[in-house]
Amino acid sequence: MSPEKTGPAAVIVLAAGAGTRMKSRTPKILHEIGGRSLVGHALHAARAIQPQELALVVRHERDLVAAHIASVDPAALIVDQDEVPGTGRAVEAALEALDARHPGGQLSGTVVVTYGDVPLLTGTLLAELVASHEAGRNAVTVLTAVLADPTGYGRILRAADGTVTGIREHKDATDAERDIREINSGIYAFDAAVLRDALAHVTTDNAQGEKYLTDVLGLARAAGGRVAAVVTEDRWQVEGANDRVQLSALGAELNRRTVEAWMRAGVTVVDPGTTWIDATVILDEDVRLLPNIQLHGTTTVARDAVVGPDTTLTDVQVGEGATVLRTHGSGATIGARASVGPFTYLRPGTVLGETGKIGAFYETKNVTIGRGSKLSHLGYAGDAEIGEDTNIGCGNITANYDGEKKHRTVIGSGVRTGSNTVFVAPVRVGDGAYSGAGAVIRRDVPAGALVLSLAKQENAEGWVQENRPGSVSAALAQSAAAAQSAGAVKTDAPGAAPTSSTTPAPTEEG
Ligand code: UD1
Ligand code: CA
Repeated sequence: MSPEKTGPAAVIVLAAGAGTRMKSRTPKILHEIGGRSLVGHALHAARAIQPQELALVVRHERDLVAAHIASVDPAALIVDQDEVPGTGRAVEAALEALDARHPGGQLSGTVVVTYGDVPLLTGTLLAELVASHEAGRNAVTVLTAVLADPTGYGRILRAADGTVTGIREHKDATDAERDIREINSGIYAFDAAVLRDALAHVTTDNAQGEKYLTDVLGLARAAGGRVAAVVTEDRWQVEGANDRVQLSALGAELNRRTVEAWMRAGVTVVDPGTTWIDATVILDEDVRLLPNIQLHGTTTVARDAVVGPDTTLTDVQVGEGATVLRTHGSGATIGARASVGPFTYLRPGTVLGETGKIGAFYETKNVTIGRGSKLSHLGYAGDAEIGEDTNIGCGNITANYDGEKKHRTVIGSGVRTGSNTVFVAPVRVGDGAYSGAGAVIRRDVPAGALVLSLAKQENAEGWVQENRPGSVSAALAQSAAAAQSAGAVKTDAPGAAPTSSTTPAPTEEG
């Protein structure tokens, strides 16, 4: 027994069923809620009780499911069910495979059975089931719930004194048995030896012609074992996702639970109903989440950061005290006290340094931005490296793609670029350099240089009056010209400004 695995001998997760009611080309258990597949949630709950072995029974879309399991839980044992149908057969196959791996040839102790399509089940409830099972020295302990509408479920049969005597499947039940509202969740703890012996005696002699796992209860009792139930008040934890309506309801309930747990852990959530947080996201105390946000994947948000409103972050690390407003981001890192948004698109590989800024209508990709540097408005920065305390002016673009390959732009620290500067990569701009408005930087710029791309400006005087006669522009131009020739320049009228400026402004603060 490995020291860190202190739980039951095994958990067997049943996942061989077809799930036809999903009406999907994707196997049911690969559908996702809260950022994990249904089977991913099942495996997560199973791992939480630290079993010695974890087996998953597959059949429908076997290869797709097996590949997915290998990616989310590579240590799980994949077991193939044969053509004999039924939950009993599925468990039998798993037990045989586990026995074959066991040094003594037979597993002993507690074996837990769960389903791959019951995503809200928690490790906490599974641990309660196992504790109750082991404390009572039971042969079988079944997890049950009392439902308003038990239609379709197996019903729990109890003797007059309340002891559990068996389970009757809905299709095999009498009218009186169908009135029973306590249902079988399909989740159990078994003594391995009892389970093995009973399964050898389970037949397919029932309404569905299947090997029922539920028959084990009656057989265990007949063999003198104690059979008991743990009744949960929390019906969500035993609810399966059979169609897309249930999938959505389970997803909403999972999210409600996740959001509530984070609020209890010290996160402010202004509008829980429009706040969606994957089960995999990690938040710190005093994070504030504003309405209408989605946090996905490996996203983390550090203390005092504010996210939202209207923000979607996937695999984004948000630093302490940062603000992220109306932003769509993935695979990005936002430094402490940095600010992003509104209307900002952060693509993978964006790394924004402490106190930096990526402002409105910016798209970034694969760019490292140093501490205190600001890209305040309207632009694209991709395949680039920007130093510290650099100010990138409005409308700057890294032209990183030559039609075939991507190239890098390297910009130093303390740089000031004018509006509409274009960096034609590959290109380097040294520390402290400046660029004038509209500069197209095709060659490297040394530190401290001012780069200007000057094209001679031409004014074709009187062009509008001649070519657009009768237009509003022509009329205004005409009166401005008349006023000017009368020597009375009105400084508050548009179009009446002096014709030349005496102070050239090569750079513009962003
Ligand atoms: C089963 C129980 C029923 C219980 C219900 C809870 C039996 C005979 N009945 O019903 O008492 O109330 O679950 O949902 O056990 N599976 C396999 N191999 C199979 C058949 C099923 O792995 O041959 C898996 C399915 O993928 C699913 C789970 O077992 O995860 C339950 O199968 P499903 O057909 O949904 O349950 P029922 O047999 O209707
Ligand atoms: Ca089911």
